[in-house]
Amino acid sequence: MPQLYDIFFASSNKYKYQEVKKILDNFGIKVGFFKYDLTEIQADTIKEIAVQKVIDAFNQCKKPVIVEDDGLFITSLRGFPGPFSSYVYKKIGNKGILKLVQTKRNAKFQSTIAFCDKKKKPILFEANVSGKISKNLRGKGWGYDPIFVPSGKLKTFAELSNKNELSHRYRALKKFASWFLNKRVSTYR
Ligand code: IMP
Repeated sequence: MPQLYDIFFASSNKYKYQEVKKILDNFGIKVGFFKYDLTEIQADTIKEIAVQKVIDAFNQCKKPVIVEDDGLFITSLRGFPGPFSSYVYKKIGNKGILKLVQTKRNAKFQSTIAFCDKKKKPILFEANVSGKISKNLRGKGWGYDPIFVPSGKLKTFAELSNKNELSHRYRALKKFASWFLNKRVSTYR
């Protein structure tokens, strides 16, 4: 019987899954949604959070799985909210961030994709996209999309129709896809 999915994406965030699916579909990788509230430790780096999340996810789903951890790093706030982006979003939201950012608006979005299957310890794929925090909320989108303008663009992620071709998520998944497809070829050689 043909296998339905190549891997699973574990998350409680359906928006992230929709983007991951769209991106990986284009690389010919079939990804299923393992909807699951992953325990998130507070740590100094999103790498540590991703490793802990993927081990947790693999223990639950027992299939090849990826998770993603992201952070928004604002230069003038010394990288805040960074690894605390999820907590800060829930507490102060985009309006709170806009109040904190005054003149210097440089920022970057970072993504860490962590992969785990039965044999090995997690493998990580990291990427970021630099940009600026907008002066006000623009467009309808999830998370920090309405306030993040990627470099070279005038629109926020929420306003852009091609976010999935330039985001931190796209860049990290592109690295993952190239590694995964290579691994698959060498497995069947
Ligand atoms: P986490 O990886 O789910 O912990 O994400 C950290 C925070 O960044 C959460 O508040 C997410 O909503 C937000 N976030 C992650 N990726 C994106 C994105 O592509 N657009 C907007 N917000 C994002």
